[in-house]
This record gives sequence, structure tokens and C-alpha cells, in this order.
Amino acid sequence: MVMTSLAEAVLEDLLATAREAAEKSYSPYSSFKVGAALRLTNGEIVTGTNVENVSYGLTICAERAAVVQAVSRFGPEIRINAVAIANLNNAASPPCGACRQVLAEFTEPNAPVAFPLAESLRVMPFAEIMPFSTELKLK
Ligand code: THU
Repeated sequence: MVMTSLAEAVLEDLLATAREAAEKSYSPYSSFKVGAALRLTNGEIVTGTNVENVSYGLTICAERAAVVQAVSRFGPEIRINAVAIANLNNAASPPCGACRQVLAEFTEPNAPVAFPLAESLRVMPFAEIMPFSTELKLK
């Protein structure tokens, strides 16, 4: 990636951290190694990787693992202002719908989300990959 701004340099660092996290993947069933790195508004970086299960549906994606880790370490007030997702399989890996829904709870609408798509990197504001996520309100 050609770095043209501080924002891109920060995202590039976050992607490198996500790739590092993917090295820890427990993925004996798919061999698909995913890592996620979240930048929090408190300045901390938190990572996660996918953890599979022989009962396939119990698999936890990297993004959700990272969110759970962030709340466990820093508490319920966390806010996420950047997300990077990487995999070690040279494949596309946009966050799945379940992970978008879980990220929605803590992620700023304008937070950039970087993920590999069709052999190139995509960066999109969270609100564009998860429209209407702030509209669901319980009364
Ligand atoms: N996976 C993730 O961890 N994140 C994604 O964004 C897409 C899919 C995992 C789940 C499963 O362990 C493997 O990748 C194949 O779907």
C-alpha cells in the first residue's frame, strides 16, 4: 500500500497487527486463518483470531473474538474507531453478518474498516457495511 496520509499509515499498522493475530488462529477444519485488530478510542489496540469447533456452528470469528477481548480488558464503555481484518490465505474476508452486528454495538459509524476483497484491500466506513445499525433501539 502506498502511504499518503497518517490515517493510511495507522491502518497499515493495524493490518500488520491483524495479520500477526491470524498466526494464532485455531482453524483445523477450514484452515482459514483470520485475524482482526481493533483500535479503541482509549488508544489501545486489541486483537482476535478465529477459534473453530468440531461442532462447526460454534466457531467464533476473529472479529467477535476481538470485541469480546476488548470488553473483557477495558470494560463496557469501549468505543472502536478503526477495524482491520486480515487472513493468511490470500483470500477475500469481509466481516460476516454476525460480526458486523456485534461490532455495531461498539463501533463509531465513521470508523474505517479495512479488509481484503478480491485481491485488493478495501477500506469503508463502518456505517456503509452495516447500514441502519444505530436505528434498532429497545423501548
Ligand atoms: N472467519 C472469520 O474469523 N472472520 C471472517 O470475517 C470470515 C470468516 C472464520 C470463521 C471460520 O473459522 C473460517 O473463517 C471460515 O469461515
